[in-house]
Amino acid sequence: MKTLFVTASGTGTGKTYVTGALAAAFRDKGLSVRVLKPVVSGYPGDDAEVTDTAILLKSLEIEPTQEAVEACSPWRFTEPLSPDMAARREGRSIDFEALVGFCRDMQGGEEDRLLIEGIGGAMVPLDGQHTVLDWMAELGSPVLVVVGSYLGTLSHTLTTVTAMKTRRVDVAAVVVSESDESPVPLAETAETMARFLPGVEVAAVARNAGPAAVHAALGPMIDV
Ligand SMILES: Nc1ncnc2c1ncn2[C@@H]1O[C@H](COP(=O)(O)OP(=O)(O)O)[C@@H](O)[C@H]1O
Ligand SMILES: [Mg+2]
Repeated sequence: MKTLFVTASGTGTGKTYVTGALAAAFRDKGLSVRVLKPVVSGYPGDDAEVTDTAILLKSLEIEPTQEAVEACSPWRFTEPLSPDMAARREGRSIDFEALVGFCRDMQGGEEDRLLIEGIGGAMVPLDGQHTVLDWMAELGSPVLVVVGSYLGTLSHTLTTVTAMKTRRVDVAAVVVSESDESPVPLAETAETMARFLPGVEVAAVARNAGPAAVHAALGPMIDV
């Protein structure tokens, strides 16, 4: 099964938006898809419909039942904090080896595509020693880096990709998902990023682009 890991330059840049759109587009093309959001913080006890887990499941028209949620997101924490802190608030911790093992097991499944949404940005801590970067390096799958088009994104993005390269993580593409009310033109931002990221594909996803448009922007870069 082809796996794509989805990370970001920070939280709220569009990982879930892009992952859900890609999942729906793959499905529309007749591919079988599994989505995972293995670690989620800020997971509410009541309105679980608005969570990343529910959004991703719904992109595949899967009802977010307790069973489906558990299979998609085994590590759920209530506090809207980085995963290590959110876990600590509950007297828990994320077992890094178990997290990697869970993803590897899912890679052994029968679906055509596996999409794994990380959490926060590329170097958010998962426990006392590991960050998402360690998780990506351990899995070794190609990674999409979803970034915004807000003022400041250039430095955040270049820093993120540079960090990923130090660990030889395979950057499949950088995806600029247009930020809300961004004063900076989307295409110009993507062009500037590309100039400073030789050898890295940079795609631009406009505000409210649907699955077909997201797939059209990314498809050639991710070999699907
Ligand atoms: N290209 C886009 N068009 C419309 N809304 C977007 C786009 N990218 C992100 N968003 C919205 O911005 C918010 C944050 O995006 P989200 O995908 O949840 O970020 P992340 O998963 O990286 O934290 C969400 O409300 C999401 O729907
Ligand atoms: Mg998300």
